[in-house]
Amino acid sequence: MNKKTIRDVDWNGKRALVRVDFNVPLDANGNITDDTRIRAALPTIRYLLEHGASVVLMSHLGRPKKKVVESMRLRPAAERLFELLPEAQEVKKTEVTTGPAAEAAASALKPGQVLLLENTRFDPREEANDQEMAQELAKLGDVYVNDAFGSAHRAHASTEGVARYLPAVAGFLMEAELSALFGALSDPQRPFITIIGGAKISDKIGVIENLLSKVNALMIGGGMANTFLLARGCNLGDSLVETESVDTARSLIDKAHAANVNLMLPTDAVIADAFKADAQQKVVPANEVPSGWRILDIGPETVKTFSNTIKEAKTIIWNGPMGVFEMEPFAKGTFAIAQAMAEAAAKGAMTIIGGGDSVSAVEQSGLADKMGHISTGGGASLELLEGQELPGVAALNDK
Ligand code: 3PG
Repeated sequence: MNKKTIRDVDWNGKRALVRVDFNVPLDANGNITDDTRIRAALPTIRYLLEHGASVVLMSHLGRPKKKVVESMRLRPAAERLFELLPEAQEVKKTEVTTGPAAEAAASALKPGQVLLLENTRFDPREEANDQEMAQELAKLGDVYVNDAFGSAHRAHASTEGVARYLPAVAGFLMEAELSALFGALSDPQRPFITIIGGAKISDKIGVIENLLSKVNALMIGGGMANTFLLARGCNLGDSLVETESVDTARSLIDKAHAANVNLMLPTDAVIADAFKADAQQKVVPANEVPSGWRILDIGPETVKTFSNTIKEAKTIIWNGPMGVFEMEPFAKGTFAIAQAMAEAAAKGAMTIIGGGDSVSAVEQSGLADKMGHISTGGGASLELLEGQELPGVAALNDK
């Protein structure tokens, strides 16, 4: 990585202003239901504390639409962080993000202490990347650290703007995410394959186009495979299709052919007569879906073909489920992909789960700890896989 990291700074007596991504899911009572993103920030925070710094953390939570929303305060994140980081003695929390009260709280910090500011998106200036807000944030630290990979695709005051006013370096999570994803894209061990799924082809066109010039094989599953199957003239019954994207699918098939990339589509499917877990279901060839039925998962023959290719690969990126894995009868295809990836990883392949639903699927499959890298950023990893520059990364100081 050509960006400076927290290892390049002498932290003794300094105040680190750290952008983290504590955008964690909360239940109706405000309890955190998955603290992965908080845990993922711990190595950076610990390193800073151990090296004599005090730490001011900032994050967004949810999409409060530029105003204070009580249920989106960061108090639960501060409490969870303290449980996970008892050595901090206390995780202080302000009810504001910038201004005199935030400055007073930040300057009162002693080395070893941690302060979490209030949700950056309560301030309407955050998402506008307002430079006054960025300067107000910059007053709260001596050095800016961006460890919020999940928000690196957003050019906001706390992710991009503030980096213009302070020395700006990457944290360990940011570094790990970039090395895994860039490493795979720029210098992959081959065969290099990707598995792309999810409901809509329109969300993943940029990713497929960018990857076509890099991979040896591209497997497509999930609802988006239907549009490719339609482009090949298959009968899909009542399956979800994006008719407006059929031409795009056709052109991607042609591009894959021209680039000598093995574009693999499902050959069979699990179909159901309704979109519900207790619907009648059966397995049919992918081009023989009767009317009144819809594809909800890849079939066993496809699982076998995809899995065999995965197990032979040396670099694998997976983004998007193969079926409606939230319903148990239609989760087999997705879990089988996770299993094949775990087996490939055990044989030494680099296995990367690129954020979003596939992360939940891998976690549900119980195989998360078998994977090489699980990204904490859904949108950010998609943009990176599209080949786009992430503003939160571009703004950091070069080595
Ligand atoms: C995410 O959850 O993907 C990040 O925290 C970014 O959130 P956003 O999509 O609301 O910008």
